Amino acid sequence: MVAIILPSFAARLVILLLFLFNGFHLGYGLSSDYYSKTCPNFEEVVTNAVKKAMGNDQTVPAALLRMHFHDCFIRGCDGSVLLRSSGNNTAEKDGPPNISLHAFYVIDHAKSAVEKLCPGVVSCADILALAARDAVSLSGGPRWEVPKGRKDGRISKAIDTRQLPAPTFNFSQLKQSFSQRGLSIQDLVALSGGHTLGFSHCSSFQNRIHNFNTLNDVDPSMNPTFANRLRNVCPLHNKVKNAGSTMDSTPTLFDNTYYKMALQGQSLFSSDQALLTDHKAKNLVIKFANSHDEFYQAFVKAMIKMSSLNGGQEVRLDCKVVN
Ligand code: HEM
Ligand SMILES: *[C@@H]1O[C@H](CO)[C@@H](O)[C@H](O)[C@H]1NC(C)=O
Ligand SMILES: *[C@@H]1O[C@H](CO)[C@@H](O)[C@H](O)[C@H]1NC(C)=O
Ligand SMILES: *[C@@H]1O[C@H](CO)[C@@H](O)[C@H](O)[C@H]1NC(C)=O
Repeated sequence: MVAIILPSFAARLVILLLFLFNGFHLGYGLSSDYYSKTCPNFEEVVTNAVKKAMGNDQTVPAALLRMHFHDCFIRGCDGSVLLRSSGNNTAEKDGPPNISLHAFYVIDHAKSAVEKLCPGVVSCADILALAARDAVSLSGGPRWEVPKGRKDGRISKAIDTRQLPAPTFNFSQLKQSFSQRGLSIQDLVALSGGHTLGFSHCSSFQNRIHNFNTLNDVDPSMNPTFANRLRNVCPLHNKVKNAGSTMDSTPTLFDNTYYKMALQGQSLFSSDQALLTDHKAKNLVIKFANSHDEFYQAFVKAMIKMSSLNGGQEVRLDCKVVN
């Protein structure tokens, strides 16, 4: 009796877990043709808004990619990063690591244009996911079909930004942060390649270039010439408000330079360097440094996984406030 009940109970549990896992992590319900009947041409409208903003400000693509990552890692990709603080609630965007967030206006412009086309249909979370894809492809990176059908969430709390991985994380902390969201070591290494775009403030890598530990002032895993350059831009008592460094030597090009520089001790964060401390991750860094095709393929796969984490309930009319 017991022998018969147990396996079937176990089987049901497995089916239930598969269902839950599928539903949450793999974006159950998302599809490429989600708006094909209700708003067939909206993708073009989003792409045009991104193009226009990029033409005026070349820091826009990096900002959109970082914004989408930040959105997806907190409560799933539900546009929570876009909400503004209200009365008694401090929103994510006013939380501590918000120094890296900007260009929210691009999403607001895209949303207004989409609302004119088909009012109340397309979620802010989907617009952000598409804008991040456009940011990559318009910077010379790969282009892919984005699964759609995300809903916008109603909660955004500054305190939740603690759930984002920190630039001081070691490999096991990074691995844990990603695996909690159903993302593998390959996803971690490929998505870290997002650091081929954009800029970082001194505060994000200060730990590596001053008072690193009791023995070394500078992280010994850093290339000394590279470290000196960063120390010049970011002195110990830095007074320049927006001082910092580009993420790699080609900050507006989506390419594999980030991996090439990482192998030479020329990455900014401890979290970038940490990818070389794990055998499997290091081999992937080498693979992506040697082939931008391998990088692009892995990046697209990982982006689709990350951007399918979801959690919302509604289609917001204004991306800054809940309905
Ligand atoms: C692996 C864990 C990650 C950590 C610890 C991390 C940390 C950071 C930090 C500290 C900054 C600089 C903030 C500043 O000082 O302004 C930054 C910038 C950036 N990150 Fe990451 N990040 C991670 C993963 C990702 C992922 C998955 C993506 C996207 C696929 C991404 C895309 C970016 C971009 C594009 C920038 C530049 C932003 C700009 O120029 O406006 N990061 N990241
Ligand atoms: C915010 O304050 C209002 C009234 O002051 C209250 O009704 C509401 O429940 C509060 N919201 C939260 C999230 O605490
Ligand atoms: C970051 O948060 C501060 C307050 O904590 C706020 O004044 C600022 O506007 C925020 N930056 C962005 C880009 O939202
Ligand atoms: C990574 O950091 C955590 C937290 O500081 C620490 O407990 C752990 O021992 C570190 N792991 C390695 C391999 O250094």
